[in-house]
Amino acid sequence: MKKLILDVDTGTDDAVAVMLAALHPDLDLVGVTTVNGNAEVQYCTENTLRVLDVIGRSTIPVFEGLAKPFARPDFPVPRRKDDLTDKIHGKYLDLPPATSRKQEAGAVEFLIETYRDATDPITLVPVAPLSNIAAAITLHPKLVEMIPHLVIMGGGHLHGNVTPSAEFNIWADPEAANVVFSAGFERITLVPLDATHKALVTRDDCAAFRALGTPAGDATATVVEHRIGVHDKIQRMEIAHSAPVHDALCVAHLIQPDVITTEPHPVAIETQGALTVGRTVIDVRRRGTDARLVNVAFDADARSFVDLMLNTFGQKHG
Ligand code: BDR
Ligand code: CA
Repeated sequence: MKKLILDVDTGTDDAVAVMLAALHPDLDLVGVTTVNGNAEVQYCTENTLRVLDVIGRSTIPVFEGLAKPFARPDFPVPRRKDDLTDKIHGKYLDLPPATSRKQEAGAVEFLIETYRDATDPITLVPVAPLSNIAAAITLHPKLVEMIPHLVIMGGGHLHGNVTPSAEFNIWADPEAANVVFSAGFERITLVPLDATHKALVTRDDCAAFRALGTPAGDATATVVEHRIGVHDKIQRMEIAHSAPVHDALCVAHLIQPDVITTEPHPVAIETQGALTVGRTVIDVRRRGTDARLVNVAFDADARSFVDLMLNTFGQKHG
């Protein structure tokens, strides 16, 4: 079994990532850490607990993380008035209130202690602003050698989703992302919008999730239908009735690597530009410095992604 830690801001697509990580038989979800992002951190924690309760996996520990960005005093950096994050995620997921509780230790403490004591490799999968990860490696720089692989949902080469240049997870804490991408990790896989928008989940897929008749199938149908409803108000007709489920694609990649197609490129984070703050600068033509290469996903296989989730969520889990 492949061990992983998920860092989330649950969040509709985070919810699907948590379910896939918690339920797939090849994965061992060691713990879930939460951070401010789609909503304030306490809502993200509650939502994560709700998801684990509903699928019967409340024994997986949840650790609450940072309530603010790594370096900026405010969170989020002022959003536009018509910001969609609230609409896509809301404060609470449409699931029963959690009966389980978060752990007493905080997320940063958990990350440091777990990697310091680990005897097996544990992949770190951050699918939220990178505040917890930046704080952990700043407090304990040796962690950079102890985390064998990061699979990060963030960034966008062709387009952003908060500004024309920037994707939410990087934009919401650009200094944290800069710390992580310049830390010298041996292996980073980046799953940006370029890939997640190739793995759209449709209303028909949602009907198939609901027809599974399992708690995970029902919950996935509910949150993805909500995402599609919001996306349909803003997106082009050709892709109507579908939505990306960004974060779950990172977990799918751990189970089935070829669900995404990656290319190795240097990646840097813009922290200053008035128009470009939070942009992942992916140097596809090698015009910049010789930074360490990141495996960047530009493509994804939507059918395999959905089938993987259907197979996992269709199992009767004990
Ligand atoms: C990312 O931002 C969040 O809103 C989603 O949960 C996802 O992690 C997509 O830009
Ligand atoms: Ca997320």
